[in-house]
Amino acid sequence: MKKIIVAIDGWSSCGKSTLARQMAKALGYIYIDSGAMYRAITLYFLRNHINWENSKEVEKALKNIELDFRPNDQTAQNEIYLNDENVEYLIRDLVVAEKVSDVAAIQEVRAFAVAQQQKLGKKKGIIMDGRDIGTVVFPKAELKLFMTADNVVRIERRFKELVEKNPNITIKEVAENIQMRDYIDSNRAISPLRQAKDAIVLDNTNLTPEEQLKKSLKLVKEKTG
Ligand code: CDP
Ligand code: CDP
Repeated sequence: MKKIIVAIDGWSSCGKSTLARQMAKALGYIYIDSGAMYRAITLYFLRNHINWENSKEVEKALKNIELDFRPNDQTAQNEIYLNDENVEYLIRDLVVAEKVSDVAAIQEVRAFAVAQQQKLGKKKGIIMDGRDIGTVVFPKAELKLFMTADNVVRIERRFKELVEKNPNITIKEVAENIQMRDYIDSNRAISPLRQAKDAIVLDNTNLTPEEQLKKSLKLVKEKTG
């Protein structure tokens, strides 16, 4: 069967990576979590006290960052490495989430990440999720999905995930972070979150992961024949 590129964009915590992972598994495609790249860069900046308002400092710091996706031996799922360190779990912390949208709005950071994402997409059979995949990274992707879900549902879903790792976290903190990121991501000057003209909207407020997978695989089939 013909292999394609699937671009999944949308709001925070609406199920993009859950869907992308399941689709990749079902189709034998490679899943790339572009948000993990921005999160790993943010983690590096925080750890190394980089002043990201200074573009010279940002450029210099980016030269010391090597990002890599490697499959986990047990799950076979791709995980992100920052300079050879597995940071897949660390980057999900609220400390990183609180700064990632500011870092992701920086032109040098986006150029750095987008160049690597496009390189990864040279081979077909890729599913990438993020904010600008269908509009900027792969404007010619054969299938573009734009995911959305009710705000309250998104907040509850993300809270449930984070509270398992950190019982002190509050739903208010999670809600504020999601709202702030959605605002910054959709209002920034460079590559704001937008629905591509040819994207198909998938509202999963009332869908289980299995139902959203079924719908999406049907769409892939329509594209691949
Ligand atoms: O998992 P969640 O949807 O909350 O976020 P993510 O996909 O891990 O992305 C984290 C942040 O990275 C987003 O809030 C954006 O600021 C940024 N991002 C971006 O600017 N462009 C992308 N293609 C992917 C993520
Ligand atoms: O990648 P994104 O931030 O858009 O969302 P996610 O990390 O895939 O999903 C956030 C949470 O919502 C996860 O815990 C998923 O299991 C859950 N989810 C759900 O309950 N129902 C769906 N239809 C999709 C995701």
